[in-house]
Order: sequence, then structure tokens, then C-alpha cells
Amino acid sequence: MARQILVAGNWKMNGSRDSVKALVEGIKAGLGKVSKSAVTICPSYVFLADVQPMIAGTAIGLGAQNLSTEAAGAFTGEISSAMLKDFACQSVIVGHSERRSLYGEDDALVAKKYAVARAAGLTPILCVGETLEEREKGITEEVVARQLDAVIALEGVAALAEGVIAYEPVWAIGTGMTASPEQAQDVHAFIRGRIAERDAGIADKVQILYGGSVKGSNAAELFSKPDIDGGLIGGASLDAEDFLKICCAAS
Ligand code: 13P
Repeated sequence: MARQILVAGNWKMNGSRDSVKALVEGIKAGLGKVSKSAVTICPSYVFLADVQPMIAGTAIGLGAQNLSTEAAGAFTGEISSAMLKDFACQSVIVGHSERRSLYGEDDALVAKKYAVARAAGLTPILCVGETLEEREKGITEEVVARQLDAVIALEGVAALAEGVIAYEPVWAIGTGMTASPEQAQDVHAFIRGRIAERDAGIADKVQILYGGSVKGSNAAELFSKPDIDGGLIGGASLDAEDFLKICCAAS
């Protein structure tokens, strides 16, 4: 089955109200050239209210970068799934490696975030991926399986049909050291195979994005691999021209 390519920009903690507006205008101006990919942008929470009306009526989807597991109440600094829905978000990143490593999010918490997002009608974009040390130890598959299995254990494999998976090797994020298309494809095929052991139909359907130093120059080769269904883009999503090049890379 042909899966649609999805290119999602994770803006991380970058931008100002002015720069974000210019970035959105730039993306919108070039959107006509994007024929094959679905496009989503994930600004910081504080920019959602500015960005949402700018992209309303366009093909650009809106996502957030994180969410709380709690519905409401005394959770200072947190943002709930209902708030994200209120600002017309359609998707939300969960378990980004920066959340896991810098903010102590473990597999169980990430699985809970996946569940809370899904329950609210948001598409969770579940990030998985190994560190350099884990790759060198030869435990990449073990790590990725553990991260994936935490969601399956909590939610059941059917829940994966309503989400997106992003394989982001930690050593490739923001380093300029992209995984080779073959390295990425191997892990993507492993992830799909692991899902297929439980449900072949869902495995066939689920989009698995690659993230980690994706650029205009390497996106086409990555996206041409059979199990790579697009990208989760950090640095290169902060420049409209670079981001659009990636969005146009699907053939
Ligand atoms: P870079 O594209 O900057 O390597 O970041 C990838 C990433 O972490 C996207 O979530």
C-alpha cells in the first residue's frame, strides 16, 4: 500500500512572533510546488495562536511539541490536550529524545502522553531512537523495540493506526550526521516488522518518519526508501526555502 509522505517541521524552542510569521508566509508562498507530501508545522506553544489563523484554509497541518498527561488543574507550566485542541492542533510530538534525555521522560510517561493525545483526537507523533552509545553497543533494535512496546503495552497495537512514528537516532539530531538511507531503512523495516508481528494491516498503514539532520540535499534519497514515509525536520524547518525543498523531495 502506498503511504503518503509526511514532512513535519519541529521548530523546537526557536523563533519570535515576527520570525515565525515570516516563516509561515514563506512556507505558504511555496506550498503550490508541494504536490506529494502532507506538511505539518510544530511551533512553540506560545506561537500557536499566531500561526493557526495564518494557516487556516491551507493544506498545512498544525502540531505541538509536547503535552501534559493531566487534563486540568494545579500543574504549573503544563499544557493540556484540550488546550491544544482549542488552538486547532491536529497532532502533537511525544517522546522526542530531547524530552527523554533533558526532562527525564521515560517510556511509561511517553506512552501515557501518546494515550492522552489520542483520546483527545490529536495524532501523536511518537519519537523513538537510540543514542550513539547504544548504537555502538549494537542494541539499537532493543532500544527502539522497548520504546515502541511501551505504547503497545498501554494502548494495544490498534492505537498505532492513529499515530505516526518518527525514528530519530539521537546521534543524528542537530549534528549534521544523517543516518545513511540504508541505516535508516533498516531500523524503519525493523519497526514495521515488529508491528506486523501483532497486526500486519496496521504495520502496512502506519507512517514512519525519519528525523535527524534531514536537509534538501538528502531528503529525496531517504524518502525513496520503502519504509521511510517522510521526515521530522528540526534545523532545516526553520528556513522556508530549506523546508520546502524537503517537502518537494517526495517523488
Ligand atoms: P535536526 O533536523 O535539526 O537534526 O533535528 C531533528 C529533530 O530532532 C526533529 O524532531
